Amino acid sequence: MPYELERELETAVAAARGAGGILRLHLERGVEARTKNSPIDLVTEADKASEASIVPMLAQAFPHHRILSEEGGGNHADSEWGWIVDPLDGTTNFAHGHPHFAVSIALQRAGETVVGVVYDVMRDEMFTARQGAGAHCNGRPVKVSSTPRLERSLLTSGFPYDRQTNSHNNMDHFADLLMRSHSVLHSGSAALDLAAVACGRLDGYWEFKLSSWDYAAGWLLVLEAGGRVTGPEGEHVDMQTGDLVATNGHIHADLLARLQPAM
Ligand code: IPD
Ligand code: CA
Ligand code: CA
Repeated sequence: MPYELERELETAVAAARGAGGILRLHLERGVEARTKNSPIDLVTEADKASEASIVPMLAQAFPHHRILSEEGGGNHADSEWGWIVDPLDGTTNFAHGHPHFAVSIALQRAGETVVGVVYDVMRDEMFTARQGAGAHCNGRPVKVSSTPRLERSLLTSGFPYDRQTNSHNNMDHFADLLMRSHSVLHSGSAALDLAAVACGRLDGYWEFKLSSWDYAAGWLLVLEAGGRVTGPEGEHVDMQTGDLVATNGHIHADLLARLQPAM
């Protein structure tokens, strides 16, 4: 099905690129951040400006589709087609002027992601996937790494925003895996972590308590690049789960084993 979902993918790419331009401008001008649900959960004007550029583009191209966007700008259309948008993934980095953040846009059909776009704004890398058509970075096919064992892997992970008040905060797993791999990064962008696994720069990623917009697009990137994505018990992941393990496949079972009990 080479041409299926092409218009959807092109629209998502254009929306992500446009939003990326807006984020770049905001970064140049300087960023003021406010807190959201916890003292370390930040939001900026740029999150909203990015969303305000993406959502109308999607709505205009696909007026009957539902749109869920993190900052609340979507709609509740009754459709089997639904967009899931993170207008700025990596807000903490962005708010501190650290150039590692992304725009993430996914299209789902009946709850399953069929198009995924993650745009690394400052590196100008557009990661794209369509179900059954592979994963690409700037138009070139990408695949997961061939690292065979956990002990030789480079991993990445993240921590929930309630980590200061909830002891189930992934610190134990992080410390454990730091001792059993080449290293573990904490990049601050779940979408870019998944893109990095998809293109083989990193071998595995896990994180708990994510929201659907953090991983809806990256999930498809990893699968289409030949990797594996499950929950921490090896179970199927849907967009409600929020607990994610994504790897090159080779290290998946060993990583799952180290993540027991999950949280
Ligand atoms: C966050 C980033 C971060 C992850 C958090 C997410 P945001 O998204 O993806 O890497 O650790 O769980 O909420 O808030 O920057 O859109
Ligand atoms: Ca996010
Ligand atoms: Ca966000």
